[in-house]
Amino acid sequence: MGSSRNVAVFGAYGHTGRFVVAELRERGYVPLLLGRDQDKLLALVQAQPGLEARQASVDDPASLDRALNGAAAVINCAGPFAATAAPLVKAALRAGIPYVDVAAEIEANLDTFAHFAERARAAGTVVVPAMAFYGGLGDLLVTTAMGDWTAADEAHIAYGLSIWHPTAGTLASGTVSGQRRGGRRVRYTGGRLEYHDDALPTLEWPFPAPLGPQNVIGEFTMADIVTIPSHLAVPEVRTYMTAKAAADLSAPDASAPAAVDERGRSAQTFVVDVLVRSDGTERRVVAAGQDIYAISAPLAVEAVDRILTGRTRTTGVASAGAVFNAPDFLRALSPHLSLHVPLDTRG
Ligand SMILES: NC(=O)c1ccc[n+]([C@@H]2O[C@H](COP(=O)([O-])OP(=O)(O)OC[C@H]3O[C@@H](n4cnc5c(N)ncnc54)[C@H](OP(=O)(O)O)[C@@H]3O)[C@@H](O)[C@H]2O)c1
Repeated sequence: MGSSRNVAVFGAYGHTGRFVVAELRERGYVPLLLGRDQDKLLALVQAQPGLEARQASVDDPASLDRALNGAAAVINCAGPFAATAAPLVKAALRAGIPYVDVAAEIEANLDTFAHFAERARAAGTVVVPAMAFYGGLGDLLVTTAMGDWTAADEAHIAYGLSIWHPTAGTLASGTVSGQRRGGRRVRYTGGRLEYHDDALPTLEWPFPAPLGPQNVIGEFTMADIVTIPSHLAVPEVRTYMTAKAAADLSAPDASAPAAVDERGRSAQTFVVDVLVRSDGTERRVVAAGQDIYAISAPLAVEAVDRILTGRTRTTGVASAGAVFNAPDFLRALSPHLSLHVPLDTRG
Protein backbone atom coordinates (compact mmCIF):
# COMPACT_ATOMS: atom_id res chain seq x y z
CA MET A 1 0.00 0.00 0.00
CA GLY A 2 1.32 3.48 -0.87
CA SER A 3 1.25 6.78 0.96
CA SER A 4 -1.96 7.04 2.94
CA ARG A 5 -2.56 10.46 1.33
CA ASN A 6 -2.41 9.31 -2.34
CA VAL A 7 -5.85 8.51 -3.72
CA ALA A 8 -6.23 7.49 -7.35
CA VAL A 9 -9.25 8.85 -9.25
CA PHE A 10 -10.11 6.92 -12.41
CA GLY A 11 -12.09 9.15 -14.77
CA ALA A 12 -10.50 12.19 -13.10
CA TYR A 13 -11.37 14.59 -15.92
CA GLY A 14 -15.08 13.67 -16.07
CA HIS A 15 -17.70 15.94 -14.52
CA THR A 16 -17.96 13.93 -11.29
CA GLY A 17 -14.25 13.07 -11.28
CA ARG A 18 -13.39 16.79 -11.16
CA PHE A 19 -15.58 17.28 -8.08
CA VAL A 20 -13.89 14.28 -6.46
CA VAL A 21 -10.40 15.60 -7.24
CA ALA A 22 -11.29 19.00 -5.75
CA GLU A 23 -12.79 17.39 -2.64
CA LEU A 24 -9.71 15.21 -2.10
CA ARG A 25 -7.45 18.28 -2.32
CA GLU A 26 -9.64 20.21 0.14
CA ARG A 27 -9.33 17.33 2.59
CA GLY A 28 -5.54 17.16 2.32
CA TYR A 29 -5.31 14.10 0.08
CA VAL A 30 -3.12 13.92 -3.02
CA PRO A 31 -5.24 12.87 -5.99
CA LEU A 32 -3.57 10.75 -8.65
CA LEU A 33 -5.31 11.66 -11.91
CA LEU A 34 -6.18 8.53 -13.88
CA GLY A 35 -8.02 8.18 -17.19
CA ARG A 36 -7.83 6.64 -20.63
CA ASP A 37 -7.26 9.85 -22.61
CA GLN A 38 -3.76 11.30 -22.38
CA ASP A 39 -4.76 14.69 -23.86
CA LYS A 40 -7.60 15.17 -21.38
CA LEU A 41 -5.26 14.20 -18.54
CA LEU A 42 -2.67 16.74 -19.71
CA ALA A 43 -5.30 19.47 -19.89
CA LEU A 44 -6.35 18.62 -16.34
CA VAL A 45 -2.77 18.73 -15.06
CA GLN A 46 -2.23 22.10 -16.73
CA ALA A 47 -5.26 23.41 -14.86
CA GLN A 48 -4.08 21.79 -11.62
CA PRO A 49 -0.27 22.07 -11.54
CA GLY A 50 1.56 19.80 -9.15
CA LEU A 51 -0.72 16.83 -9.61
CA GLU A 52 0.37 13.60 -11.27
CA ALA A 53 -1.53 12.11 -14.19
CA ARG A 54 -1.34 8.47 -15.29
CA GLN A 55 -2.90 7.15 -18.46
CA ALA A 56 -4.52 3.71 -18.08
CA SER A 57 -7.03 1.61 -19.93
CA VAL A 58 -9.52 -0.94 -18.62
CA ASP A 59 -8.42 -3.18 -21.54
CA ASP A 60 -4.84 -3.20 -20.26
CA PRO A 61 -4.52 -4.58 -16.70
CA ALA A 62 -0.78 -3.76 -16.56
CA SER A 63 -1.56 -0.10 -17.22
CA LEU A 64 -4.04 -0.14 -14.33
CA ASP A 65 -1.42 -1.75 -12.07
CA ARG A 66 1.10 0.97 -12.97
CA ALA A 67 -1.53 3.67 -12.44
CA LEU A 68 -2.43 2.38 -8.96
CA ASN A 69 1.20 2.06 -7.86
CA GLY A 70 1.61 3.99 -4.60
CA ALA A 71 -2.10 4.71 -4.19
CA ALA A 72 -3.74 4.07 -0.82
CA ALA A 73 -7.21 3.76 -2.39
CA VAL A 74 -8.98 4.22 -5.72
CA ILE A 75 -12.21 6.06 -6.52
CA ASN A 76 -13.70 5.02 -9.86
CA CYS A 77 -15.68 7.87 -11.48
CA ALA A 78 -15.59 6.49 -15.05
CA GLY A 79 -18.94 5.29 -16.30
CA PRO A 80 -20.62 3.36 -17.83
CA PHE A 81 -19.42 1.08 -15.06
CA ALA A 82 -20.47 -2.00 -16.99
CA ALA A 83 -17.11 -1.45 -18.72
CA THR A 84 -14.95 -0.03 -15.93
CA ALA A 85 -15.99 -1.49 -12.57
CA ALA A 86 -14.72 -5.07 -12.90
CA PRO A 87 -11.26 -4.19 -14.32
CA LEU A 88 -10.76 -1.51 -11.65
CA VAL A 89 -11.96 -3.74 -8.78
CA LYS A 90 -9.58 -6.47 -9.96
CA ALA A 91 -6.70 -3.98 -10.13
CA ALA A 92 -7.51 -2.66 -6.64
CA LEU A 93 -7.55 -6.23 -5.29
CA ARG A 94 -4.18 -6.95 -6.96
CA ALA A 95 -2.81 -3.77 -5.37
CA GLY A 96 -4.39 -4.65 -2.01
CA ILE A 97 -6.15 -1.29 -1.72
CA PRO A 98 -9.78 -0.31 -1.11
CA TYR A 99 -12.06 0.51 -4.05
CA VAL A 100 -14.95 2.96 -4.06
CA ASP A 101 -17.10 3.84 -7.07
CA VAL A 102 -19.99 6.15 -7.93
CA ALA A 103 -21.89 3.71 -10.15
CA ALA A 104 -25.60 4.34 -10.49
CA GLU A 105 -26.09 1.36 -12.84
CA ILE A 106 -28.16 -1.32 -11.11
CA GLU A 107 -26.71 -4.19 -13.15
CA ALA A 108 -23.10 -3.04 -12.71
CA ASN A 109 -23.58 -2.74 -8.95
CA LEU A 110 -25.17 -6.20 -8.79
CA ASP A 111 -22.18 -7.57 -10.71
CA THR A 112 -19.75 -6.04 -8.25
CA PHE A 113 -21.52 -7.76 -5.35
CA ALA A 114 -21.87 -11.04 -7.24
CA HIS A 115 -18.35 -11.33 -8.65
CA PHE A 116 -16.11 -9.83 -5.98
CA ALA A 117 -17.66 -10.50 -2.57
CA GLU A 118 -15.51 -13.56 -1.85
CA ARG A 119 -12.28 -12.17 -3.29
CA ALA A 120 -12.59 -8.84 -1.46
CA ARG A 121 -13.36 -10.58 1.84
CA ALA A 122 -10.45 -12.97 1.38
CA ALA A 123 -8.18 -10.01 0.66
CA GLY A 124 -9.42 -8.30 3.83
CA THR A 125 -10.17 -5.14 1.89
CA VAL A 126 -13.34 -3.21 1.22
CA VAL A 127 -15.11 -2.55 -2.09
CA VAL A 128 -17.92 0.02 -1.91
CA PRO A 129 -20.06 0.36 -5.04
CA ALA A 130 -22.55 3.24 -5.59
CA MET A 131 -20.88 5.49 -3.02
CA ALA A 132 -22.65 8.55 -4.44
CA PHE A 133 -25.97 10.41 -4.56
CA TYR A 134 -27.90 7.44 -5.99
CA GLY A 135 -27.28 4.23 -4.10
CA GLY A 136 -25.02 5.56 -1.34
CA LEU A 137 -26.95 8.49 0.09
CA GLY A 138 -30.30 6.66 0.00
CA ASP A 139 -28.74 3.70 1.79
CA LEU A 140 -27.21 5.91 4.51
CA LEU A 141 -30.56 7.67 4.98
CA VAL A 142 -32.59 4.44 5.13
CA THR A 143 -30.06 2.87 7.52
CA THR A 144 -30.28 5.98 9.72
CA ALA A 145 -34.08 6.03 9.60
CA MET A 146 -34.19 2.35 10.60
CA GLY A 147 -32.33 3.18 13.82
CA ASP A 148 -32.63 0.13 16.08
CA TRP A 149 -34.85 -1.77 13.64
CA THR A 150 -33.16 -4.77 12.06
CA ALA A 151 -35.98 -5.26 9.55
CA ALA A 152 -38.80 -3.19 8.07
CA ASP A 153 -41.78 -3.86 5.82
CA GLU A 154 -41.06 -1.07 3.31
CA ALA A 155 -38.50 1.59 2.45
CA HIS A 156 -39.46 4.53 0.22
CA ILE A 157 -36.90 6.96 -1.19
CA ALA A 158 -38.44 9.98 -2.92
CA TYR A 159 -36.08 12.15 -4.98
CA GLY A 160 -37.23 15.76 -5.22
CA LEU A 161 -34.96 17.23 -7.88
CA SER A 162 -35.71 20.80 -9.01
CA ILE A 163 -34.36 20.06 -12.48
CA TRP A 164 -31.95 17.49 -14.00
CA HIS A 165 -29.37 18.45 -16.58
CA PRO A 166 -27.67 15.05 -17.10
CA THR A 167 -24.01 14.59 -18.01
CA ALA A 168 -22.92 12.53 -21.00
CA GLY A 169 -21.83 9.83 -18.53
CA THR A 170 -25.30 9.67 -16.96
CA LEU A 171 -26.97 9.32 -20.35
CA ALA A 172 -24.49 6.69 -21.56
CA SER A 173 -24.91 4.71 -18.35
CA GLY A 174 -28.70 4.83 -18.65
CA THR A 175 -28.46 3.52 -22.20
CA VAL A 176 -26.14 0.67 -21.24
CA SER A 177 -28.31 -0.32 -18.28
CA GLY A 178 -31.43 -0.21 -20.47
CA GLN A 179 -29.75 -2.47 -23.03
CA ARG A 180 -28.58 -4.88 -20.35
CA ARG A 181 -32.15 -5.37 -19.15
CA GLY A 182 -33.48 -5.70 -22.70
CA GLY A 183 -35.45 -2.46 -22.50
CA ARG A 184 -37.46 -3.77 -19.57
CA ARG A 185 -38.08 -1.96 -16.27
CA VAL A 186 -36.94 -3.19 -12.91
CA ARG A 187 -38.30 -2.90 -9.35
CA TYR A 188 -37.55 -4.47 -5.99
CA THR A 189 -40.57 -6.17 -4.50
CA GLY A 190 -41.24 -9.28 -2.45
CA GLY A 191 -37.57 -9.36 -1.47
CA ARG A 192 -36.23 -9.68 -5.02
CA LEU A 193 -35.59 -7.82 -8.24
CA GLU A 194 -38.45 -8.06 -10.71
CA TYR A 195 -38.14 -7.17 -14.38
CA HIS A 196 -41.39 -5.97 -15.98
CA ASP A 197 -43.01 -3.94 -18.76
CA ASP A 198 -45.69 -2.14 -16.72
CA ALA A 199 -46.23 1.58 -17.25
CA LEU A 200 -44.74 3.66 -14.43
CA PRO A 201 -47.35 5.28 -12.17
CA THR A 202 -47.49 9.04 -11.51
CA LEU A 203 -48.52 10.02 -7.99
CA GLU A 204 -48.17 12.90 -5.57
CA TRP A 205 -45.41 12.65 -2.97
CA PRO A 206 -45.76 14.79 0.19
CA PHE A 207 -42.26 16.30 0.36
CA PRO A 208 -41.86 18.45 3.47
CA ALA A 209 -41.87 22.27 3.20
CA PRO A 210 -40.47 24.27 1.54
CA LEU A 211 -40.66 21.90 -1.47
CA GLY A 212 -44.15 20.61 -0.61
CA PRO A 213 -46.19 18.01 -2.50
CA GLN A 214 -44.90 17.17 -5.99
CA ASN A 215 -45.88 14.88 -8.82
CA VAL A 216 -43.44 11.98 -8.90
CA ILE A 217 -42.90 8.95 -11.11
CA GLY A 218 -43.26 5.82 -9.02
CA GLU A 219 -40.93 2.83 -9.50
CA PHE A 220 -38.34 5.16 -11.04
CA THR A 221 -35.85 2.58 -9.91
CA MET A 222 -32.40 3.67 -8.77
CA ALA A 223 -29.30 1.94 -7.35
CA ASP A 224 -30.81 2.01 -3.85
CA ILE A 225 -32.62 -1.23 -4.72
CA VAL A 226 -29.19 -2.88 -4.77
CA THR A 227 -27.48 -1.16 -1.86
CA ILE A 228 -30.29 -1.27 0.71
CA PRO A 229 -31.31 -4.96 0.41
CA SER A 230 -27.62 -5.91 0.39
CA HIS A 231 -27.63 -5.51 4.18
CA LEU A 232 -31.13 -4.65 5.44
CA ALA A 233 -34.13 -6.99 5.61
CA VAL A 234 -36.64 -4.83 3.74
CA PRO A 235 -38.70 -6.72 1.12
CA GLU A 236 -40.17 -3.60 -0.55
CA VAL A 237 -37.74 -0.87 -1.64
CA ARG A 238 -39.29 1.82 -3.84
CA THR A 239 -37.77 4.93 -5.35
CA TYR A 240 -39.61 7.93 -6.81
CA MET A 241 -38.50 10.85 -8.97
CA THR A 242 -40.09 14.26 -9.42
CA ALA A 243 -41.90 14.11 -12.76
CA LYS A 244 -40.20 17.30 -13.97
CA ALA A 245 -36.69 15.85 -13.40
CA ALA A 246 -37.66 12.53 -15.00
CA ALA A 247 -38.85 14.44 -18.07
CA ASP A 248 -35.60 16.47 -18.17
CA LEU A 249 -33.60 13.24 -18.19
CA SER A 250 -35.42 11.78 -21.17
CA ALA A 251 -35.70 15.03 -23.17
CA PRO A 252 -34.10 14.69 -26.62
CA ASP A 253 -32.36 18.07 -26.14
CA ALA A 254 -31.08 17.39 -22.59
CA SER A 255 -28.14 19.69 -21.82
CA ALA A 256 -25.24 19.20 -19.41
CA PRO A 257 -25.19 20.90 -15.99
CA ALA A 258 -23.87 24.49 -15.93
CA ALA A 259 -21.80 25.85 -13.03
CA VAL A 260 -23.34 28.71 -11.06
CA ASP A 261 -20.96 28.96 -8.10
CA GLU A 262 -17.23 28.92 -7.34
CA ARG A 263 -17.33 25.19 -6.49
CA GLY A 264 -18.66 24.43 -9.97
CA ARG A 265 -22.07 23.38 -8.72
CA SER A 266 -25.16 23.82 -10.89
CA ALA A 267 -28.36 25.51 -9.68
CA GLN A 268 -30.05 22.12 -9.25
CA THR A 269 -31.39 21.51 -5.74
CA PHE A 270 -32.47 18.20 -4.27
CA VAL A 271 -34.52 16.83 -1.40
CA VAL A 272 -34.32 13.14 -0.56
CA ASP A 273 -37.29 12.11 1.55
CA VAL A 274 -36.90 8.67 3.11
CA LEU A 275 -39.68 6.78 4.82
CA VAL A 276 -39.44 3.33 6.41
CA ARG A 277 -42.42 1.41 7.76
CA SER A 278 -42.56 -1.51 10.16
CA ASP A 279 -45.74 -2.91 11.70
CA GLY A 280 -47.60 0.34 10.96
CA THR A 281 -44.92 2.57 12.53
CA GLU A 282 -43.15 5.09 10.26
CA ARG A 283 -39.73 6.65 10.56
CA ARG A 284 -38.56 9.42 8.27
CA VAL A 285 -35.29 11.18 7.45
CA VAL A 286 -34.96 14.06 5.00
CA ALA A 287 -31.80 15.41 3.37
CA ALA A 288 -31.46 18.46 1.14
CA GLY A 289 -28.65 20.07 -0.82
CA GLN A 290 -27.40 21.40 -4.14
CA ASP A 291 -26.28 19.44 -7.21
CA ILE A 292 -26.44 15.64 -7.26
CA TYR A 293 -23.05 15.34 -9.02
CA ALA A 294 -21.25 17.71 -6.64
CA ILE A 295 -22.61 15.99 -3.50
CA SER A 296 -21.27 12.66 -4.79
CA ALA A 297 -17.72 13.93 -4.17
CA PRO A 298 -17.97 14.44 -0.38
CA LEU A 299 -19.83 11.12 -0.20
CA ALA A 300 -17.06 9.20 -1.98
CA VAL A 301 -14.20 11.05 -0.26
CA GLU A 302 -15.73 10.73 3.22
CA ALA A 303 -15.99 6.98 2.50
CA VAL A 304 -12.32 6.76 1.55
CA ASP A 305 -11.31 8.82 4.58
CA ARG A 306 -13.24 6.50 6.90
CA ILE A 307 -11.77 3.39 5.25
CA LEU A 308 -8.21 4.71 5.46
CA THR A 309 -8.65 5.68 9.11
CA GLY A 310 -10.16 2.32 10.08
CA ARG A 311 -13.72 3.56 10.71
CA THR A 312 -15.39 0.62 8.98
CA ARG A 313 -17.62 -2.21 10.13
CA THR A 314 -16.88 -4.89 7.59
CA THR A 315 -14.71 -6.02 4.70
CA GLY A 316 -15.64 -7.42 1.31
CA VAL A 317 -18.11 -5.82 -1.09
CA ALA A 318 -20.50 -3.73 0.98
CA SER A 319 -22.73 -0.72 0.58
CA ALA A 320 -22.38 2.54 2.51
CA GLY A 321 -24.93 1.66 5.19
CA ALA A 322 -23.20 -1.65 5.90
CA VAL A 323 -19.62 -0.34 5.99
CA PHE A 324 -20.08 2.88 7.93
CA ASN A 325 -21.89 4.23 10.97
CA ALA A 326 -24.65 5.82 8.88
CA PRO A 327 -25.86 8.64 11.19
CA ASP A 328 -22.28 9.61 12.01
CA PHE A 329 -21.37 9.58 8.30
CA LEU A 330 -24.34 11.84 7.48
CA ARG A 331 -23.42 14.26 10.28
CA ALA A 332 -19.94 14.54 8.78
CA LEU A 333 -21.53 15.74 5.53
CA SER A 334 -23.22 18.69 7.24
CA PRO A 335 -21.22 21.32 5.27
CA HIS A 336 -22.82 19.88 2.12
CA LEU A 337 -26.09 18.39 3.25
CA SER A 338 -28.85 19.63 5.51
CA LEU A 339 -30.44 16.81 7.38
CA HIS A 340 -33.60 16.44 9.38
CA VAL A 341 -33.55 13.35 11.58
CA PRO A 342 -36.60 12.99 13.84
CA LEU A 343 -35.69 12.43 17.50
CA ASP A 344 -36.62 8.75 17.65
CA THR A 345 -34.27 7.83 14.78
CA ARG A 346 -31.10 9.60 15.91
CA GLY A 347 -28.09 7.31 16.14
N1 LIG B 1 -24.60 7.21 -8.29
C1 LIG B 1 -24.65 8.52 -8.52
O1 LIG B 1 -25.41 9.25 -7.89
C2 LIG B 1 -23.72 9.13 -9.52
C3 LIG B 1 -23.29 10.45 -9.35
C4 LIG B 1 -22.42 10.97 -10.30
C5 LIG B 1 -22.01 10.21 -11.38
N2 LIG B 1 -22.45 8.93 -11.50
C6 LIG B 1 -22.02 8.09 -12.61
O2 LIG B 1 -20.64 8.31 -12.85
C7 LIG B 1 -20.35 8.17 -14.21
C8 LIG B 1 -19.63 9.40 -14.71
O3 LIG B 1 -20.50 10.47 -14.65
P1 LIG B 1 -20.02 11.95 -15.03
O4 LIG B 1 -21.12 12.82 -14.61
O5 LIG B 1 -18.68 12.22 -14.46
O6 LIG B 1 -19.94 11.83 -16.61
P2 LIG B 1 -18.93 12.47 -17.64
O7 LIG B 1 -18.60 13.88 -17.29
O8 LIG B 1 -19.50 12.22 -18.99
O9 LIG B 1 -17.59 11.64 -17.44
C9 LIG B 1 -17.50 10.29 -17.79
C10 LIG B 1 -16.10 9.85 -17.48
O10 LIG B 1 -16.02 8.42 -17.62
C11 LIG B 1 -14.91 8.14 -18.49
N3 LIG B 1 -15.15 6.86 -19.17
C12 LIG B 1 -16.28 6.43 -19.73
N4 LIG B 1 -16.11 5.19 -20.23
C13 LIG B 1 -14.82 4.86 -19.97
C14 LIG B 1 -14.03 3.71 -20.24
N5 LIG B 1 -14.53 2.64 -20.87
N6 LIG B 1 -12.76 3.71 -19.82
C15 LIG B 1 -12.23 4.78 -19.18
N7 LIG B 1 -12.93 5.89 -18.90
C16 LIG B 1 -14.21 5.92 -19.29
C17 LIG B 1 -14.85 9.31 -19.42
O11 LIG B 1 -13.60 9.36 -20.08
P3 LIG B 1 -13.50 9.80 -21.65
O12 LIG B 1 -13.78 11.28 -21.69
O13 LIG B 1 -12.12 9.44 -22.02
O14 LIG B 1 -14.58 9.03 -22.39
C18 LIG B 1 -15.06 10.45 -18.40
O15 LIG B 1 -13.89 10.70 -17.69
C19 LIG B 1 -21.69 7.88 -14.88
O16 LIG B 1 -21.82 6.48 -15.01
C20 LIG B 1 -22.71 8.39 -13.91
O17 LIG B 1 -23.96 7.73 -13.99
C21 LIG B 1 -23.29 8.38 -10.60
